[in-house]
Amino acid sequence: MIPLSIPQLEGNEWKYVKDCIDTGWISSAGSYVNQFEQMVADYAGAKYGVACMNGTVGLHIAQILSGVTQDDHVLVPNITFIATLNAVKYTGATPILVDVNADNWQMDLDLLDSYLNENTIGKEIEGIPFSFLKSTGKRVKAIMPVHVLGNMGDMARLVEICEKYHLDIIEDSTEALGSTFNGKHAGTFGKFGVFSFNGNKIISTGGGGVIVTNDKDLADKAKHLTTQAKVSAMDYIHDEIGYNYRLVNVLAAIGVAQMETFPKLLENKRQMDAFYRQELEGVGDIVFQSIDEEVNPNCWLFTFKTSKMRDLLAYLNENGVQSRPFWMPMNQLEMFKEEIYVSTENVSSKIYDTSISIPSSAGITLEQQKTVVETIKEFYKTQE
Ligand SMILES: Cc1ncc(COP(=O)(O)O)c(C=O)c1O
Repeated sequence: MIPLSIPQLEGNEWKYVKDCIDTGWISSAGSYVNQFEQMVADYAGAKYGVACMNGTVGLHIAQILSGVTQDDHVLVPNITFIATLNAVKYTGATPILVDVNADNWQMDLDLLDSYLNENTIGKEIEGIPFSFLKSTGKRVKAIMPVHVLGNMGDMARLVEICEKYHLDIIEDSTEALGSTFNGKHAGTFGKFGVFSFNGNKIISTGGGGVIVTNDKDLADKAKHLTTQAKVSAMDYIHDEIGYNYRLVNVLAAIGVAQMETFPKLLENKRQMDAFYRQELEGVGDIVFQSIDEEVNPNCWLFTFKTSKMRDLLAYLNENGVQSRPFWMPMNQLEMFKEEIYVSTENVSSKIYDTSISIPSSAGITLEQQKTVVETIKEFYKTQE
């Protein structure tokens, strides 16, 4: 079976893990943690990085530090992996789901702007301006743009909208290490960006995340909150409810080795994307995710639309090509059915009904890509 997306561990991973074991530094303190978070921050062009156990907890911490509470709303795209919404729910805040564009599958910014324009009212609290949703009276505190599949939307426009409505931007850039908009890296457009190093990501620590920010105070607070909010190196004194969310040294060691090989893996992904686009253009009724001119994506997971999605999915999986459907839109999941869903044409549903992801590991060989393409072509022949 050609796997969907598996890690490529071909550098110093073993050497650095062995070093942790040989020296006994396997837990949450250790030089690899600091090194890894600095490498990720430097790569993204952010000033600070804070390593944590995974992307989900990073999104949770970013919201706490943005002051999101149970009295707030947080805007999220309706097409995302569940973790984005779970992180909102952990804070007790109420999500507002926003539909996505049919072409690039990112949050629909026209829809977002007109919704906020018609449904919010500006009010100052202690001299600070906020937007409040007229129907609930709750503050709309933050937005979590998700760089779906490593692609990006119009970040310049998004920043403009957020300034207009006083929203904090917490980028769910979990899938987007290596992606840029006008040369600026994903995760650096707002207050926080969060990267994931889960097993299926472009590089992996097995499980892991890094929160990036340009604000030293926020970075210090993120480190504090992720390490049980302990105030003294010696005494067990804690000044708030903290979390045991810190990444351990042995996983950060893998992360350091992965960051060393990342430029090469990113190049592989981009070559893979170009190959699939060239070879699958015009095959059956395949439609690719569009990429805006300003965006240089990391090409994380190759996904396309076809009316034959379910049949193709079965065919590929039966014929040695691991494939997956896309995420069920958040508004269709049982626990989020009652949330506000901003949409005119329910584009999310159409994308979900037709999208399929095909093998995209950073280490995928050209031979494997050719097999994937041939199997897809064979499938469409059976449909003629
Ligand atoms: C869009 C999105 N958000 C959040 C996450 C959560 O990251 P993690 O699995 O590291 O918790 C993921 C990936 O798994 C993701 O794809």
